[in-house]
Amino acid sequence: MSIQKESLVKLNGISKSFGDVDAVERVNFEVRKGEFFTLVGPSGSGKTTTLRMISGFEQPTAGTLQIGGQPMSAIPPESRDTNLVFQRLSLFPHMTVGENVGYGLKKRGVDASERKRRVSEYLELVDLGEFEERDPTELSGGQQQRVALARALINEPAVLLLDEPLSSLDRKLRKQMQVELRRIHERTDGAFFYVTHDQEVAMTLSDRIAVMNEGQIEQIGPPEKIYREPATQFVAEFIGDTNLLTGSVVTHSGNAVIQIGGSGGIEIPADGHSGEVQVSIRPEDFQLSDTGVEATVIERFFQGDQTNYVVEPDIDLSPIQIVSQGSGHTAEIGDQVTVSILPGTPVVFD
Ligand SMILES: Nc1ncnc2c1ncn2[C@@H]1O[C@H](COP(=O)(O)OP(=O)(O)OP(=O)(O)O)[C@@H](O)[C@H]1O
Ligand SMILES: [Mg+2]
Repeated sequence: MSIQKESLVKLNGISKSFGDVDAVERVNFEVRKGEFFTLVGPSGSGKTTTLRMISGFEQPTAGTLQIGGQPMSAIPPESRDTNLVFQRLSLFPHMTVGENVGYGLKKRGVDASERKRRVSEYLELVDLGEFEERDPTELSGGQQQRVALARALINEPAVLLLDEPLSSLDRKLRKQMQVELRRIHERTDGAFFYVTHDQEVAMTLSDRIAVMNEGQIEQIGPPEKIYREPATQFVAEFIGDTNLLTGSVVTHSGNAVIQIGGSGGIEIPADGHSGEVQVSIRPEDFQLSDTGVEATVIERFFQGDQTNYVVEPDIDLSPIQIVSQGSGHTAEIGDQVTVSILPGTPVVFD
């Protein structure tokens, strides 16, 4: 039996317009207690606006927002059980690391000895135990962002709101910080509400993802489910790599099938679809095999544990990306190969 955790943040029909720009349109989702929830979507899709409504820095044009079961319409940001970590580094430069982290407690009148204890505790949590007396300017970008995290976490918010907190870091540091973030989340009780345009980050970190496009949520679910069963063509293309192929439903030997690439092309079960359809097939769901569609290898990238190919089918079909994971078949550029699909993997959109 799966026990669904309590809902903590609940958005019901939330919209936000700026003049005639509909930034967020009728959005519904909930963030559950202790969960790592990520809102992912392209630039301008409405992610920051959604986060700012949860934090209280922006008011919805329509809909209701609850945190911990309480309506938030009349509750100012500082009275909400949330804390915000921004994309750009935002430490107080004239305070030490320790003073930065202890700032929220000081403002609330927590006494000095208790403050000192908790500052140490939270600096340990982000692996910066020995940096308490340093100035923020004496830290690397990644260390500064960890201080910012500790400064937010020390207030023990029910929800930590993170808006692209890693985007100012270089690629390597970003990877390290992803692992850190996940670890820090596991060590704390609070929920994380994470906003990013980077689908890879979203897939790596999250318990659940909401995919946003043009102000609307297209799908919500665990990463595997979103990847394997995308609800829309947009989600199929935005999350992970895919081959999006046009097919049409025809009758072949008495059975309705989707034919991709015309007669003699790839065939998959019609499953109740009709007319012209789009079919999403992940690169790893194609394989080089003994039977199937003839094609020529036009690109090949060796990546250690896998090999990526681009093949040009002999039939009327644009080039296909294939990821081959150590199976028996290998090929070189220029080779003639045969390509087939792993059964049950294509996703069809009408
Ligand atoms: N204060 C504002 N006034 C007018 N339009 C705004 C305002 N804030 C956001 N918008 C518009 O609302 C839309 C959504 O913006 P938002 O910042 O939420 O996107 P985003 O998904 O966070 O994008 P990014 O990934 O680039 O940060 C955009 O079209 C943006 O131009
Ligand atoms: Mg944004």
